[in-house]
Amino acid sequence: MHNEFRYGRWKILCFVFADIVSLLLASILSLWLYLLNKDINYSIKSHFSVIIPMIVIDLAVTFFFSTLRRALRWREKREVYESARHVVFSLVFLGLYLFITKSGPDFSRAIVLLTYGFDYLFLLAFRISLRQIMTRYMKRESTALLMTTNRFADEGIKELKNLGLDVRYLYLLKNNNADKVNDIPVAKDVKEAAAVICWEMIDKVYIYGLDHQMIPEYLMDACNEMRIMLQWVDFNYKVLEIKRIKHQDPKYGALMFLEGERDIPFPIRRVYWITETDAEMYRGSHAHKLNCQLLYCPYGKIDIILDDGKEKTTVTLDRPEKGLLLMPGLWREMVWRDQGSILCVLASEYYDENEYIRDYDEFLAYSRKSGKEEA
Ligand code: TYD
Repeated sequence: MHNEFRYGRWKILCFVFADIVSLLLASILSLWLYLLNKDINYSIKSHFSVIIPMIVIDLAVTFFFSTLRRALRWREKREVYESARHVVFSLVFLGLYLFITKSGPDFSRAIVLLTYGFDYLFLLAFRISLRQIMTRYMKRESTALLMTTNRFADEGIKELKNLGLDVRYLYLLKNNNADKVNDIPVAKDVKEAAAVICWEMIDKVYIYGLDHQMIPEYLMDACNEMRIMLQWVDFNYKVLEIKRIKHQDPKYGALMFLEGERDIPFPIRRVYWITETDAEMYRGSHAHKLNCQLLYCPYGKIDIILDDGKEKTTVTLDRPEKGLLLMPGLWREMVWRDQGSILCVLASEYYDENEYIRDYDEFLAYSRKSGKEEA
């Protein structure tokens, strides 16, 4: 709850208000029913001396046991359980309070139980209707959270802007503690990102340039619970400038480096390289269904011909610091332009022949079917 309070403050306060109102209504109703049926001299003063601790306990349970967050995140069936949990916790803590302070001796146990029974019903009705009202009237259109890596944050924001989408929050995998990027707040960790999704009424979660295996399960669950679709705003390939450190003294040469999941949007599971090649030699002629790759040529010159099923592009790798990031679903051919050129590949998947497409017609059918979703 504490974490979430930073976000949906008004929403939480609405729920808290609804909780208090339901408890008061429940207490008045139960008192009325009790007095109506029993011809006894009941102490109203004592009744109210217990109602106040009841409300305080109710608020404490609300804040410490995150029931509101759960109430909002889970749908109707869960609400029945969550509201019951809330009421049972409150009942137990009130019992403890009365026992420890030895207060409320004139207060009937029957009324406590009746009050909590009614509280449960009111709570359920209030929470369900409140959430429905909020979802209907307070939801801003196109409130989006963008999930990407540090390296691609700027590009992703730009890309979404071009599509007319407003990014309200960012979740950066492998974040190096940036609070904001381009004035857009960054969720610190996956739990905070899920809290933002729940409380800020985010209605879309976009993913930019990420390999499927980098999307945290926790966030996927949060999206499922909130019935939010994950949408991909993807590129097929990107030419990257690999970081390069040149020594002051030229005889020491230059050093280039790449880090998996930081500079490239996938974990590196496999590395392979191709050597001893003749000029004008062809390799490739396949596409991957899952595998993301980064290609670079530390020595020589190699043309990479890319085909997305609609058009062909050629990227020439002719410098060691030029990297070519390939997302799945692209047909590629490699042509060695200089004899002895070396092609190095960093891959996101272990070798698996089943995720290859080696037949061009099959590739065309596959790319038509799985065409990248437009946001
Ligand atoms: P292949 O993918 O056909 O190479 P290219 O597309 O560059 O022409 O791979 C050639 C052979 O090497 C093939 O029999 C599969 C094997 N191979 C592995 O066993 N592990 C690997 O990681 C790779 C890339 C290939």
